[in-house]
Amino acid sequence: MSSYERFLAPCLRLLPPEAAKDIAGWGLRRGFLPAAPAFQNQALRATLWGLSFANPIGLAAGFDKDAAFLAGDLAMGFGFVEAGTVTPRAQPGNPKPRLFRLPEDKAVINRFGFNSAGGDAFRRNLEAYRAAHGRGQGVVGVNVGRNKDTEDAVRDYVYLVRTLSPLADYLCINVSSPNTPGLRDMQRSDALRKLIGACREALDGAVGTAAPPMLVKVSPDLDEAEIDLIAGTALELGVDGVVLTNTTIARGPDLRGAARDEAGGLSGRPIFARSTHVLRAFHERIGGSLPLVGVGGVFTAEDAYAKIRAGASLVQLYTGLYYKGPSVVREIQQGLVELLRRDGHASYLDAVGLDTAAPPSRPVAPDVAAEAPDVAVEAPAAAIA
Ligand SMILES: Cc1cc2nc3c(=O)[nH]c(=O)nc-3n(C[C@H](O)[C@H](O)[C@H](O)COP(=O)(O)O)c2cc1C
Repeated sequence: MSSYERFLAPCLRLLPPEAAKDIAGWGLRRGFLPAAPAFQNQALRATLWGLSFANPIGLAAGFDKDAAFLAGDLAMGFGFVEAGTVTPRAQPGNPKPRLFRLPEDKAVINRFGFNSAGGDAFRRNLEAYRAAHGRGQGVVGVNVGRNKDTEDAVRDYVYLVRTLSPLADYLCINVSSPNTPGLRDMQRSDALRKLIGACREALDGAVGTAAPPMLVKVSPDLDEAEIDLIAGTALELGVDGVVLTNTTIARGPDLRGAARDEAGGLSGRPIFARSTHVLRAFHERIGGSLPLVGVGGVFTAEDAYAKIRAGASLVQLYTGLYYKGPSVVREIQQGLVELLRRDGHASYLDAVGLDTAAPPSRPVAPDVAAEAPDVAVEAPAAAIA
């Protein structure tokens, strides 16, 4: 058990969940740093979409919604961070309380509903980060959504794609959060086609050949036919990757937490199996062509390895950080290297999709340009509880 789990987490848990989360954000913004350098290893390096990843473990969307503490996010040792979801205009999100702990299940339910400082504030934060740190200190993705009261959802996404793409290492089109009415309907074939087509056009028009890759984030609550449709549409319309998955509205019979009947999206341990199933299903359809990002219920190196073997070229987590604190990042990286060594893989990319029915394939290259000595990055003490 880390010192975070032993000492800091119990204190933070005395606070309402959102207050504890806000304190963690404040701490990251102020740069509270412990002494331990982040773990780095050649077996964890990769190049995807021309971007260099020091390791495949990323911070999932929703933790840093306004790109307000990116340096702190990356200093935890993450190879990349997905900031957002950002909406074009600022909006408060749903009334509080809107974040619930289910400690018995190692899970969280949230119904934030895209609380966002808006596109302008997000852009200013990202510009300030780029001005201070440039590119190359860790990959920064931008997850975009729409305002709750918008009259034209496609226009919202296109606006954000246009304005934020010059600053983003990658973009993620979020059509899967369960807390904005109607949002998940955009995963349906016709709506998705229209949305992706419009974003592709905006992206190509905005930054031409330097356009960042465009990913789509999908729900774990898709049936096989929907998976088929989305996979086909992604390939056909030039999507560059798929993030699998967002939170679920399903509630399994095994959930024990008192908050289990709260409305919202469930994340953490209980969604590991379902999100990994959806990941594997996508890999079997398109994994040879597009990199996939596996997210949902990752707490340990074994979990991350299972995502990779199910087809993930990158892995993200959120709820694991919530319960275990920043040391979870290093623990996963270290454990992953040991698992790779045990199985005789020189690179984690050799294990992508090994537990699927798809033939071995590698849409991603190991990072040969990154053989220079590793740079140690300090990690901050505060996270969330
Ligand atoms: C409090 C909270 C807020 C979230 N907000 C967003 C969001 O704004 N956009 C998004 O795409 N996903 C959001 N997510 C979903 C996560 O990015 C992730 O897909 C999901 O939680 C599953 O991963 P996990 O089990 O590691 O948490 C949020 C999750 C949590 C717990």
